[in-house]
Amino acid sequence: MARFPEALNEQIAYEFAASQQYVAIAAHYDAETLPQLAATFYRQAVEERNHAMMIVQFLLDADLPVMIPGVEAPQTSFGNATEPIELALAQEKRVTDQIVALVALAREEGQLVGEQFLHWFLQEQREEVSSMSDLLATVERAGDNLLLVEEYLARTGGEESPLEAGAPPAAGGAL
Ligand SMILES: [Fe+2]
Ligand SMILES: [Fe+2]
Repeated sequence: MARFPEALNEQIAYEFAASQQYVAIAAHYDAETLPQLAATFYRQAVEERNHAMMIVQFLLDADLPVMIPGVEAPQTSFGNATEPIELALAQEKRVTDQIVALVALAREEGQLVGEQFLHWFLQEQREEVSSMSDLLATVERAGDNLLLVEEYLARTGGEESPLEAGAPPAAGGAL
């Protein structure tokens, strides 16, 4: 029995869990009246949801079973302003490791179409780890004054990544 389809279904849960974690972080910043930080994470949450739906579309296209597993509840309370972003960066690094393991498994099982599908996710992870560590550095540098972070995000945020153009199709359409 090939493990790759099962592992891909597990990744759907990790992407939805990432989405929920980002909703929780966004709501946290929204409650603190930090609208740019909130908007950043609301947007990230939608991206993670789209990643899950891209995997669903791949499974449908490949005529593989689609499981939509349940997810673990996200962390919703945070001790300080940097903690949510440290958590987000750790999450992106963990997802990178998961995608790398999936690619290795696809290769091991000769699933080259599946491997090619995952190449976009590798690029996406490089981008997301990089942008999250930039955000962490910015928040650390701002210290107690998160309004500096708000201003920074207002100036630099909202740029569409060039990667989105080459993204795999998402089931039901990307949001
Ligand atoms: Fe993702
Ligand atoms: Fe991500």
